[in-house]
Amino acid sequence: VSIAVFASGSGSNFQAIQEAIERGEINAKIELVVTDKPGAYVVERAKVKNIPVAALSPKNFDSKVAYEQAILSKLQECEVKWIVLAGYMRLIGNTLLDPYASKIINIHPSLLPSFPGKDAIGQAMDHRVKVTGVTVHYVDAGMDTGPIIAQRAVTVVDGDREATEQAIHAIEHELYKEALQKTLT
Ligand code: GRF
Repeated sequence: VSIAVFASGSGSNFQAIQEAIERGEINAKIELVVTDKPGAYVVERAKVKNIPVAALSPKNFDSKVAYEQAILSKLQECEVKWIVLAGYMRLIGNTLLDPYASKIINIHPSLLPSFPGKDAIGQAMDHRVKVTGVTVHYVDAGMDTGPIIAQRAVTVVDGDREATEQAIHAIEHELYKEALQKTLT
């Protein structure tokens, strides 16, 4: 099944997904990486894996609709069936939600509905929770609100953001793989 991975940052989830595909653990092909940040490290990771990148800066478009239309035509060129968000730091609008209804998946570093939005790990540290986690969910028009596909708890390392973040990332790579295995059809 043809997928596109959307990312704005480092792309460690992109790489974990691609490597799971290479091992035959997810039945999918990443046709395209889409980024809104042409300088993001995910672009380097995609090059190493020989996966085409569409780097589109929203500021070069007149509107969000025009920006998403440009993405949509790239997705249609590659006949992409599913959109997998991996650290894509923008809300998806109707231009993409309508043609990809129930075909967009996101991963978020908290146990939703706790700590939606930006810096979920920072929010968890600030609240001094003892347990946080990772959620994989379908995407709707809200901020981290769609139906939940999978969740896993992660124990917070008290006062140690870096260690907690490392633990969360390791679980993300595993949970996303398992959830995509089950969900992509
Ligand atoms: C992950 O924590 C993901 O859950 C969040 O953004 C981060 C992306 O990390 N939405 P990476 O770019 O995949 O390394």
